[in-house]
This record gives sequence, C-alpha cells and structure tokens, in this order.
Amino acid sequence: MTETLKIALLPGDGIGPEVMTVAAEILAELVSRFQLPVELQSFPWPSHDWHQQHGEMMPADGVDLLRGFDAILLGALGDPGPIDDPQRYVLSDSISLAPLLALRKELNLWACERPARWLPGAPQYLADSRANDVDMLVIRENSEGEYSNQGGRLRAGTPSEVATQVEVFTAGATERLIRHAFERARQRAAQRHSPRQFKGDKHAQVCLITKRNAQPFWGDLYTETFARIAREYPDVDTHHELVDAACMKFVQCPWRFDVVVASNLHGDILTDLAAVLCGGPGLAPSANLNPADERIPALFEPVHGSAPDIAGRNMADPRATLMSLAMLLDHLAPKHPAIGNAAQHLHDLIAEDMKHAFSGTRETGQRLSQRLAAG
Ligand code: IPM
Ligand code: MN
Repeated sequence: MTETLKIALLPGDGIGPEVMTVAAEILAELVSRFQLPVELQSFPWPSHDWHQQHGEMMPADGVDLLRGFDAILLGALGDPGPIDDPQRYVLSDSISLAPLLALRKELNLWACERPARWLPGAPQYLADSRANDVDMLVIRENSEGEYSNQGGRLRAGTPSEVATQVEVFTAGATERLIRHAFERARQRAAQRHSPRQFKGDKHAQVCLITKRNAQPFWGDLYTETFARIAREYPDVDTHHELVDAACMKFVQCPWRFDVVVASNLHGDILTDLAAVLCGGPGLAPSANLNPADERIPALFEPVHGSAPDIAGRNMADPRATLMSLAMLLDHLAPKHPAIGNAAQHLHDLIAEDMKHAFSGTRETGQRLSQRLAAG
C-alpha cells in the first residue's frame, strides 16, 4: 500500500499567510492532478497571533508534533506588520524568531541549501549579460557557529556593559557540512545537461568561505577539513574566498560559482546577496535538511522574512514560497514517482511564469492556478 506523506504548512507572520495561501492552493491542485499520496495540515503557530492568545509563539510540544510529518513548509516569521500601525502586536526578534532557530536546531537540520539560479524573465540587476548564467548552490551551516546563542550581557544597560556572543565550531559539524557540499557538487555536475568547466577540466566546484585572516581558529578548522575532504573528490575543483571578497565577486562574476559552502552567518548574508542576483527576495527558496537522516522532516521556506512593510497589501511575490514547495516535492520524490512529476511540473510552471513581471500576490497565484488547470 502506498504510504501517505504528511506535509505541515506553517504560514507564520506578516506576508507569510499571504504567500502560504497561494502555495497551499497550488499544492492542493497538484495533489489532485497528480494523485499525490499527500495529506496537508496547516498550523496557526508559530505566529504572533498565537502568542497574543497563548503567551508563546508555539505550543511546548510543537516541535515534537512536527517530527511526525514528512516535510514542513514555512511562510515567514517576524514582525507581522503593517509597519505603519503602531498598535500592532510586535515581539522582540529574540522571541518571534526563536521558533525558526529552534526548529532548525531541535530537528537537527544542519544543512541549509539555498539555490541561486537566474531564470529568464526574472529581474536582472547586473548589467553584464554573463550574470544570466548564475547557477549556484549556497550551502549554509545551520546548527552552530555564530548562531550558537551562547554568551550574555554583563552590567546590562550601564556604561560599563560587556556583551559576549560566543561562536562555536565543532569538527563534527564542519566535516559533515563540507562533505555534503562535495556530494552535492558531484550530483549537480552529473545532472547538468551541458557541462560546466572549472580548473583542471573539472565539471564541478566547491568554494569554501571563511574569514580566516581575522578569525583564524574556526577559519583554519574549516580550511584544514576542506583540504582533507577535497582529496576524496579529485573530480571536484576547489576554491576559497574570504567572505568580504566573496561579496565582491558575487556581484562582479557570480557566474563563476558552483557550490559555495559557508558558516551560518556568512551563509545568511551571502544568500540575501545571491537572492538579488536572481531577481530579488521574492524569487529565492531554501531548504533546511538533515542529509544524514531522511526520517527527519526537512523544512522549506523562502529566504525572505515577514516583510512588515508590505504585509497585508497583496505585494509579496509568492514565487519564492512556490520554489520552496517545488524543492520540498523534489525532496519527497524518491518516496513516490508522482511526486517527482509534480515537482518538475511546478518548476516548469514557475520558470514559464517568469516572463510576467510581478503583479500582486493573488494575481500571481490565480495565473499559476489557471496554467495548472489548463495543463
Ligand atoms: C534567514 C533569516 C534568519 C537567519 C533570521 C530570521 C533569524 O535571515 O533564514 O536567512 O538569520 O537565519
Ligand atoms: Mn537571512
């Protein structure tokens, strides 16, 4: 008997519910059209609304409940907006964003994959036409590093206050992340229709990002681990950039990058930049995964946040969430062939839709629904 796969939908805050409404409709249509063995369940948490009613962003057993799902799609978390409403219910970032970091950490989703591929028709902010070839995958460490949340404030609020924010980098987390980056580089090269060329006639590359000139302890750990693992992948070209130089090169020659592997914070910053290379935050998807354990539900979400400045105004591009949904379906594809077909169909639908400039959240959803219904 075919197993029914369970997908949890977490709309969240701000533009989250708007983009999720579109994603849920498209997903329901894909389920019926491709007869997917998939069951959807939407949750009103984590969210500011839930906090306003219950005094917490999500129930204490929320993460455990989500463990029973096969995948999770999240809209956005943070300031619910609208930003010009001073009466709105706002929480500090440390409260409102904690569930996102908790989900990543408690579910042990240690790799965050953020593909950046420019699709024809998407806004192009760079003048050089080679920027149309940008096709990279940034793999961000998702469990520790600068996001370890250790430290504190001594003599808070006084002129002699001391704040510490401790960064933790472990050999185990470094090794698994870098190995995963090499694996993904190999897979991408094998799946590409026309090969890309890197140094030494290789078809794949991994670029390591550090700030080892100023932060040598973890920088050297990453560098040494990278060099050791690279020896197991002689078919993959290797490269290193300091994070500041990487920012420059993402703008100057982004088409040169393939897989980019970075720490939690460096990966966070670089993926906002990579999003803009591909047309903006409304077109940038992401996946939080545990590549070592497929029983753990992966969490898919657009790279953007709750965008309180445009919340409730039908101005959020839902395509980043739809691209994240396509990644979710890709991820579940090995469990059922129809899911792979639906994922491909959704990828094609979104690519086809790029010729339309963004014209409203609902309008984008309606246009995609119509195309889906038309076959
Ligand atoms: C992201 C976001 C989060 C992060 C914030 C909301 C904590 O910027 O997913 O990129 O920094 O990871
Ligand atoms: Mn970010």
